[in-house]
Amino acid sequence: MSTVYLNGELIPKERALVPVDDRGFLFADGIYEVSPAYGGSFFRLERHLDRMRRGLAALSIDFDPAPLAAVHRELLAANQLEDEPISIVYVQITRGVAPRAHAFPTTPTKPTVYAFAKEFKRAPSEVWDKGYTATTVPDRRWARCDIKAIALLPNCLAQQAAVAAGTHDAVFVRDGIAIEGALNNFFAVIDGTVVTHPATNQILHGITREYVLELCHDLGLPVEERPIQLEEMWEADEAFFTGTTTEVRPTVTIDGRAIGGGKPGPIARKLMDAFVAGVERETSRKAARV
Ligand code: PDD
Repeated sequence: MSTVYLNGELIPKERALVPVDDRGFLFADGIYEVSPAYGGSFFRLERHLDRMRRGLAALSIDFDPAPLAAVHRELLAANQLEDEPISIVYVQITRGVAPRAHAFPTTPTKPTVYAFAKEFKRAPSEVWDKGYTATTVPDRRWARCDIKAIALLPNCLAQQAAVAAGTHDAVFVRDGIAIEGALNNFFAVIDGTVVTHPATNQILHGITREYVLELCHDLGLPVEERPIQLEEMWEADEAFFTGTTTEVRPTVTIDGRAIGGGKPGPIARKLMDAFVAGVERETSRKAARV
């Protein structure tokens, strides 16, 4: 039985119960984060906490996520995950408990804070080497995809459509543009340039996306943050997704059509290698400091 965090306490998961009047349950009124740890050291946790802070501010939920950094570490320890090669911590903060009414409660509520940790297994390299497949899905989400809101129904429907089509990932498409995945950001390599949608309100500003753009810079790869037209996507040299639970994942077919040579391309490989090395460097440096 795992140990989870709920409203200030570490408790067995079976005892973690939330009232039915929680606005997260009734309205999906809250935000979440998923942060990775490598060998027990968190990677760029500050960035995840900052994104949480921005989301909470956008929803006017009065909660300071700074103390959650310690909770992340406590959850790894309580679940014996400190030596695990990769683990993730999920945190969700809702506006709290109040009788159902759309407008915010007039008497301030105490936000509900729930978190759990679990191991994350990177796919074996043979799977990566074969590549992954994707399906295009119309993007019918709201206009604030930059908020990591717990309202994920369109994402769930898109991911389900991708899985039902026998593929791994969804590519959200809006107005002929490849936007992002249901749980990851999307990149294409077009005429040797790494292209990804700009960090607007239409995508989640992925921490992995940001890191991969830094890696491109370090590796001297040309980068453009601009919309990817579908016609360009079909003709791209390569396509790949990035995310906390995706890392760098090469896409070899979309809607059954081969991308590039129908095999993971050299740039995705270079970026995955640089990602693994960079994450290990950054987290072991951090572990050495503690
Ligand atoms: N998903 N885009 C969307 C819609 C996402 O939900 C996510 C993350 C990302 C990638 O962001 P990051 O690199 O910061 O993980 C992009 C998480 C992992 C999830 O929902 O489980």
